[in-house]
Parts: sequence; C-alpha cells; structure tokens
Amino acid sequence: MKRMWYRNAVIYEIFTRSFYDSNGDGIGDVKGIIEKLDYLDNLGIDVIWLTPIYASPNEDAGYDVSDYYQINEEYGVISDVELLIREAHKRNIKIIMELVANHTSIEHMWFKSARKSKKSIYRDFYIWRDNSGDEYPNNWMSSRTGKPVWTYVEETDSYYFHLYTSHQPDLNWRNEELRKEIYKIIKFWLNKGVDGFRLDVINKISKKEGLPDLDDSVPYHYAEMYFENQPLVHEYIHNMRKEILNEYPDCIFMGQTSGIDLDQAYEYTLGEKEQLDLFLQFELTDMDKGPEGRLKQFDLEKFKDIIFKWQDAFDGKLWNTIFLGSHDLPRMVSHYGDDENYREKSAKMLATVQLFLRGTQIIYMGDEIGMTNVNYKSIDDYNDNRTKNFYYKRINERNENEEKVFMDIHDISRDNARYPIQWNDSIHGGFSSGKPWIKENDNYEYINVESQLNDENSIFEYYKKLIKIRKSERTLIEGKTTRLNYGEGIIAYRRIYNDISIDVIANFTNVSKRIDIVGNGERIIGNYDGENYQELKPYEVVVFKNYIC
Ligand code: NOJ
Repeated sequence: MKRMWYRNAVIYEIFTRSFYDSNGDGIGDVKGIIEKLDYLDNLGIDVIWLTPIYASPNEDAGYDVSDYYQINEEYGVISDVELLIREAHKRNIKIIMELVANHTSIEHMWFKSARKSKKSIYRDFYIWRDNSGDEYPNNWMSSRTGKPVWTYVEETDSYYFHLYTSHQPDLNWRNEELRKEIYKIIKFWLNKGVDGFRLDVINKISKKEGLPDLDDSVPYHYAEMYFENQPLVHEYIHNMRKEILNEYPDCIFMGQTSGIDLDQAYEYTLGEKEQLDLFLQFELTDMDKGPEGRLKQFDLEKFKDIIFKWQDAFDGKLWNTIFLGSHDLPRMVSHYGDDENYREKSAKMLATVQLFLRGTQIIYMGDEIGMTNVNYKSIDDYNDNRTKNFYYKRINERNENEEKVFMDIHDISRDNARYPIQWNDSIHGGFSSGKPWIKENDNYEYINVESQLNDENSIFEYYKKLIKIRKSERTLIEGKTTRLNYGEGIIAYRRIYNDISIDVIANFTNVSKRIDIVGNGERIIGNYDGENYQELKPYEVVVFKNYIC
C-alpha cells in the first residue's frame, strides 16, 4: 500500500510565530524551529505540521496569504525553510505545510488586480456580484464576523464574497486557471522537499451554484449546507490529487473538513475518487460549543459516544486523525482537565487517552509540557481576530457586562493556544530575548520545558514514554478499539490485535472512583504509583497489557 507511513505517525503542530524566536525580534521564526529540532526528535514525533508561514498581512494568523511563493519575512527566507526540511529529514521528521486555498488575503496580487477592474485576468479568480441596488447579493452570514459574506468595492461597483473576514476573499474554484495556479503552488513546495499539506477548510472550496438565498425568514444565516461538502468539492480535490500524485506519489493530503459525518468521511478518503489521506473533523472538539462559540457544560457521556462512534468506524480502512488541541482550540489541560489542582495528573491522563486511540495522532505544541489557557485582562492584549470580533460585538453592539464577556473569552480565545512556548523560567519564558509579539503567560516560571527535561515525573517525559510505547505496540496502531464500561466519570477502552489486548482506564474527574478492574495483566503505564486497582484517584489513568490465550 502506498503512503501508509502516516498511520503510525505522531504529528506535532507548530504555530511558528510563538514557537521559538532565534533573532530577538519577539516573533518566532523558522530558524527557531531548526534550533529546536533536537527537542522534537527527543520527544519522538515523526511529522511537523506548520500552520501558514507564507507572506501575509497576518489578519488571521497567516490564514490570509498574500504570496504563496514567499514566506513571511518575520519568519525568515525560503532558504531557511529549505534548511528546516533538510535538517528535519536528517532526523526522520517529515514536514507538512499548510495550503490555504479557500481564500487569499486582500493583499494578494490576484485580488489587488481583480478589485480594480472587471477586465483583470484575475477577476474571475474571486466571486463577485454586481451592485443591484438591493442590500446584499444574498443572505449568507460569515461565522467569523456575524456579518454578511459580502464586501462592497467602489472601483467596480460590486461585491466580493468572503466566508471569513473581509480581508479574506474566497477564491473561485470554478475557474480552471485558478485551479492550475493552486497546483503550481503545491508543486513549488513539493520541489522544496515538503512531504504533504494540511488543506485548510478544503470542504468549503465549492459553493452552491448561483449562491441562492437560504430560507429568507431570517435576515442572515450561516449557510454551511450551501458551502460545505458540495458535490463539486470532490471533483476539485480529486483532480488536484491526480495532478500531484502523478509526479509526487508520496505526498499526503490532510484535509480540514469540519462538520463531516461518517459517510462523508468515507467519500473523502475511500470514495471512488481518490481525494484525501487524512481528515480533521471537529465533532469531538466542538461538542461543547454553544451559541457564538461559547462553552456549554461538558458532557463526558457525549464525549465518549463521539470518540467511540468514530473508533468503531475505523475498521482498518477508514482512518482518521486524533487530537484534543490545536491553534484554534483552548489548551487541552484547561479545557478537559483541571489546570489548577491537578494540572500534571490531568495532562497525563488526557495524553494517554488520546495517544492510545486508533488513528494518526496530532499533538499541539506546548501540550507536551501541560501549558494552560491564558487570562489576559485587557482586549488589547489579545490578537486573535475571532476573539476581538466576539468582544466588540458583545460590548459595543450589545452593551454586555465586560466581566462576563471576559469569562467566555478566557475559555475560548484562540490566543490560549497562541501565546509563546515556555522554554525556561527566564524573562519571556525563554521564548525570545526581545518583547514577544503577544503577551506571555505569567506561569512560565513553573511551567516550562527546561524544568521538565530529564525529570522522570514530568509531563514531557511522560509524553515521551507514551510515544515510545505507541511505537513499540502494534496493537496501538492497528488494533480494533472496543469501549469498556467502568461507570460514570470514567473513560475506558480496549485495543486488540492478534493475541494482545491493551486496556486504557481513566478517571476523567477530580474525585476518586471506586472500581473493580478485572483481569489486570501487566501495567505498562499510569500517572500514579501504586497497585490498588479498586480505586482510581482524581484523573488517574492506568494501562494494562494482556496476552490473549
Ligand atoms: C481554519 C484554520 O484552522 C483557522 O485558524 C482559520 O482562521 C480558518 N481556517 C480560516 O482560514
């Protein structure tokens, strides 16, 4: 089978701006990643996924590209990326770049030309509607801004379409020339040696023909049924795939496909038309999102149902990515664990539950040392455009109580995951000798890499062990997953492959749980010492291996 290496892989996601600053300008850079490759190698990861590092005005953390052939000068130059790829490959680490191809920045040369004149050769690279005098060309609303997906341009008396902010005009995939340009970009980076791409919001690149209004009983709608998983999306991805695989048979495509169900997952990865190798779906990490992305009460039973629904479907053919954190999500220990009283225990428990599930694993940078959410007190300390929109909407438009708004922001802001990595307890957490582009989290004095390296009880060393075990146990890669029931507050499952079974039993709560673990077998890892398996302490996890006779 081709390209199957990704099944065993542990991917490590890097948000470059906050990883490590090599030149003291307060901004993480590519050379900074090179300096830390030995750290990553020591952790045991196989793949680095870089969130966008292309030239960009950074309205949306690089998800607004102004030139796909250059990297953001704050991050370095192309030869730095070439060196990163070579150095990573020397350590057997692969590199996945981001392909942001649903939209560009308004600063992209294509858009600058397109907005000026209807005659521009790039005009049709974007989606336009003439100004007909009515308010907006349709009633779709942007989930990012809560406003219409249209922005007016005076030069040509027309509107352009954008699912995200007005700085991110959507590309028109119906245009063949545009598609060819995207193939060129992919090949440019493959020629530099990258091993694959994470395709940003790839299931949204095709919009329903004619962009019709959606049910006009409500003024504006988030019209995902008209722009997610449309029939043509499969053609587009498939054709792109064919074009690339012809020349680069090992390249992998990991598609971001929010809102897909099992049938769609089959179609994207195993359908007749070859499309994606891996997909990222968010049913689990979005399950406690309430209105406007605020948090609802966490429901462990629902969490388990979602995990095991997908695990059941992975029959060895259907394959998925597994993650609990990312640059868009809160810190996993703050969100699912207890970052005050049981930070170390809950971080280890979560890592175990995650890393022993079936699927390609993704660790978000900093989770391997248990970094936590950040609680900035002023909106000026935040950078994330989603957080700022959320704040201004509720404060300026609705006059809501600021303290309450901040409570939500502390839970959900994407800056929770985007502040600098804490390398040591020196100023700025050792991230930079200059002032970081975003305020650091004060807790770097006690949460940092240096204090965890070679401390056998640290979260970092625990992650290392988990990754090592995962690699040495075929059961954890190929084994079928079965849900086990140990009662309320506990998540447990068994992996089985040939004559080996591995049980993971985890207390997801901050109180001890009485249980009766039967047929223990050999304990291969856990986050507490001790042999008492009639009780699981707060956030305790224990893993047993058994030989099936
Ligand atoms: C998904 C990315 O993960 C997110 O960070 C970004 O804002 C949107 N796509 C828009 O590109």
